[in-house]
Amino acid sequence: MFDLIVRHATLPDGRTDIDVAVRGDRIAAVEPHATLAAAAAGREIDAGGLLLSPPFVDAHFHMDATLSLGLPRFNQSGTLLEGIALWGELKPHLRQEALVERALAYCDIAVARGLLAVRSHVDTSDPRLLAVDALLEVKRRVAPYLDLQLVAFPQDGVLRYDPRRDDPSCTLSALQLLEKALDKGVDVVGGIPHFERTMADGLESVRLLCELAASRGLRVDMHCDESDDPLSRHVETLALHARRLGLQGRVTGSHLTSMHSMDNYYVSKLIPLIAEAGLSAIANPLINITLQGRHDTYPKRRGMTRVPELMAAGVPVAFGHDCVMDPWYPMGSGDMLEVASMALHVAQMTGRAAMRACYDAVTGTPARILGLEGYGLAPGCFADLVLLQARDPIEAIRLRPARLAVLRRGRVVSEQPPATAALRLDGRPARVDFLHRR
Ligand code: FE2
Repeated sequence: MFDLIVRHATLPDGRTDIDVAVRGDRIAAVEPHATLAAAAAGREIDAGGLLLSPPFVDAHFHMDATLSLGLPRFNQSGTLLEGIALWGELKPHLRQEALVERALAYCDIAVARGLLAVRSHVDTSDPRLLAVDALLEVKRRVAPYLDLQLVAFPQDGVLRYDPRRDDPSCTLSALQLLEKALDKGVDVVGGIPHFERTMADGLESVRLLCELAASRGLRVDMHCDESDDPLSRHVETLALHARRLGLQGRVTGSHLTSMHSMDNYYVSKLIPLIAEAGLSAIANPLINITLQGRHDTYPKRRGMTRVPELMAAGVPVAFGHDCVMDPWYPMGSGDMLEVASMALHVAQMTGRAAMRACYDAVTGTPARILGLEGYGLAPGCFADLVLLQARDPIEAIRLRPARLAVLRRGRVVSEQPPATAALRLDGRPARVDFLHRR
C-alpha cells in the first residue's frame, strides 16, 4: 500500500507510461504502469501521459529585493549601476516585516510554479544586517515547502564598502559584517569583484572570500564579472583560488557576462581553466539580456555568458531568475521555464539535445550546484514533483504550461486547472489545449 501513486506519467528522460509511487515523504517506486497497475494507494493522480518532473530549482536570485519595484523610484537608465544606486537609496527605508512579507509572497508564487528550491543572495553591506535577519526568518518559515539557500553577498564591495558610511558608530569592516552573516546561519560565501574600486581590489576580494569559505567549509557563489568589460580577469582568479584551496565542485561563478565580450583566443584558455578548477556557472538570461550592452550602439551585445561552450567543456551550467520586479528588472514571474526559454533563444540552443540541456539547467543541474539532498525522480528521493501540462521538457519550455499539481514531500501543495480555450469555429474542434499532436 502506497500513500500516493501518479499514474501514466512521461518522465523528463523520455520514459513513458510510468507510475511513480510515494510512501511518506519519499518516492518508493518508479516503474512501468504494467508493473504497478495492481498496486493500491491512498490517492491516485492520473498524469494522462503528461510530464512529471522533479521541481524547478533557481540557482541565482535576490529575494531581499524582490517585489520592491518602484521603491523609492524606478530605474530610468535600466543599467546595473543605477540599479545598485537605487537599492542603496531604498536600503535605509527597508523594514524587516515588509521584507519578510515580500519574500513570502514571492515564495507563494514560486511554489505555484513548481519552483521548490532557491539560492538567494542576501545583501550584507548594511551595519544592521536587516535583510540577512529577514531572509533567515523567511528560510525558517518556508522550509516545509521550499528550500531556501542563502549567499552572503557584499553588494557594495567587500573592500569598497565602509559600514561607517551608514552607521558612524559601526566598528566592523564589510568583511566582518559578511562573517557575521555567516555566523547567523547564511550558507554560502558571495562576492562582487567587478564592483570593487580597482581590478587589483577585485582580485584581492576573490582571494579573501575564497579563503574565508575554505576556512569554514562553505561553498562559494560570486557575482563574477557582471560587466561588458572584455579585459576583466576575475573569473580566471576565481578558478585559480578554487583549485589552490581544494574547493573543486564547491565554487560557482554567477553571471560571467564579461566572457561574452572577451576575444575567442583568451576564452580558449579560460574555459579549460574553469573546467579544471571544477567551477560551475550560472547564467541569468532575463537580466543579462536586459542589463548588458547598455552602452553599445548597434550591434548591441547580448551579454549572456558562453553557455553552450561552457557546457561542451563539461562545466555544469544552470540558469537563474536573478530578479523579479526589483531595482534591476521590472518584469519576471517566478517561472523557471521563462528563464529557460530566454536562455534557449539568446544562446541559440535550438538543437534537440541543447533544448533538453536548457531544461536540465533549471532542474537537475542547479540541484547539484546547490548540493540539494534527495533531489530527483528515483526511489529514495524526496517526493517533490511537478506535473506539467506538456508532454516533454522541450514542449514545457515552449508552452510554459500550467503546473497541474505540485508535490512537496509527498503532499500536494499547489494545483492548477489545465489551460484550455473554448473555440466557436464552424467545423473546427470545440476546444484547444495548446499541446502538439504528433
Ligand atoms: Fe545577481
